[in-house]
Amino acid sequence: MTSGLFQRVSPGDADAIAQLAELINAAGAVDDPDSPPIPADLLGRQLEFGWDLEPSERFLYRPSADAAVVGTLSVHAPQRDNLQLMDIGVTTHPDHRRAGHGTAMMSEAIRRAQEIGRTILWAGCAHDDEGAAAFLTANGFGYASHEARRYQWPDRVDHDQLDELYRTAEQAASDYELIRTTAPSDDELLTELIEVTAAINDAPMGELDFEDEKFDLQRLKDFEAAALGKGEKLYRTFARHRDTGKVGGHTIMMVQPSLPTYGNQYDTAVHRDHRGHRLGMLLKIDMMRWLAKAEPQIERIETWNHADNDYMISVNEKIGYRLNRIYDTYQRKL
Ligand SMILES: CC(C)(COP(=O)(O)OP(=O)(O)OC[C@H]1O[C@@H](n2cnc3c(N)ncnc32)[C@H](O)[C@@H]1OP(=O)(O)O)[C@@H](O)C(=O)NCCC(=O)NCCS
Repeated sequence: MTSGLFQRVSPGDADAIAQLAELINAAGAVDDPDSPPIPADLLGRQLEFGWDLEPSERFLYRPSADAAVVGTLSVHAPQRDNLQLMDIGVTTHPDHRRAGHGTAMMSEAIRRAQEIGRTILWAGCAHDDEGAAAFLTANGFGYASHEARRYQWPDRVDHDQLDELYRTAEQAASDYELIRTTAPSDDELLTELIEVTAAINDAPMGELDFEDEKFDLQRLKDFEAAALGKGEKLYRTFARHRDTGKVGGHTIMMVQPSLPTYGNQYDTAVHRDHRGHRLGMLLKIDMMRWLAKAEPQIERIETWNHADNDYMISVNEKIGYRLNRIYDTYQRKL
């Protein structure tokens, strides 16, 4: 049985979003001080649009009707694939921990998963956060995978080294031309990008129970629509094979105008038929050069990789990304 009260936060509810932002930022200051606080209006847009028009549900948690908000629960049940899965986030305000609130929110998440027939739960925490790991273990979860967050500071990058890396990659990739585009893309281009987008399924997933994500034109359109709805600017460089016209690889960078000094590296993928030509390196350096001109105010860029994705990590390290923190994903089967 679930105790306490859960208030679903709707994107149009400014008061609830302000409370949610306050709570997330109070927890972030303690749990993840390297990340910038999230502005409330951006949080509202995230709740409305999600990653690809399939937003998570968010709840404010009060232990009783007249009590203050002490926590937040987020649940995301994918709709296009992985219908067995529910991804959960539980956060208790730092002033109210070890009082059973996290457990109450987790019970509610499990109740919701059971209600809609989801049998695999995922929840993440920082690898060095022993308390959060103990909490997940106490709630029946086990470690299943890990992701690494790296930062790059463009003004600290060694440009001579970068130029040298680019020259070598350019020679290996001489059969390809690079093309730069910004969102929104037309349907013809997005159709060409479906296969290379789906190549992200080749990235390692540790011990997580997961099936390949399904990509089609509508999903790529929804991803761009969600980004634009959140006010994001999307920069994409892709490599086209000169002879066949096929798209061999792409990389996407996101800049959120309400956090203008902070860039986000989104997916980079090279299709398996086009590997071995240093396209990953070429695409990423091209993107750095483009962004340096288009968004010169960027001070720091964030990227995430599965911590065992040696190839992508070695590219990232060579172009100046440095490890910031490892995050673990825990899984529980219901
Ligand atoms: C992890 C988190 C949600 C726990 O919230 P909470 O309200 O303190 O959780 P509870 O009081 O229900 O704790 C339940 C049990 O988890 C374990 N636990 C929780 N925090 C712990 C800590 N800091 N150290 C050791 N064990 C801990 C204990 O077994 C605890 O039972 P106990 O207090 O009777 O010993 C909270 O610390 C938090 O918000 N962390 C940041 C977000 C995060 O990493 N979430 C991870 C899950 S998505």
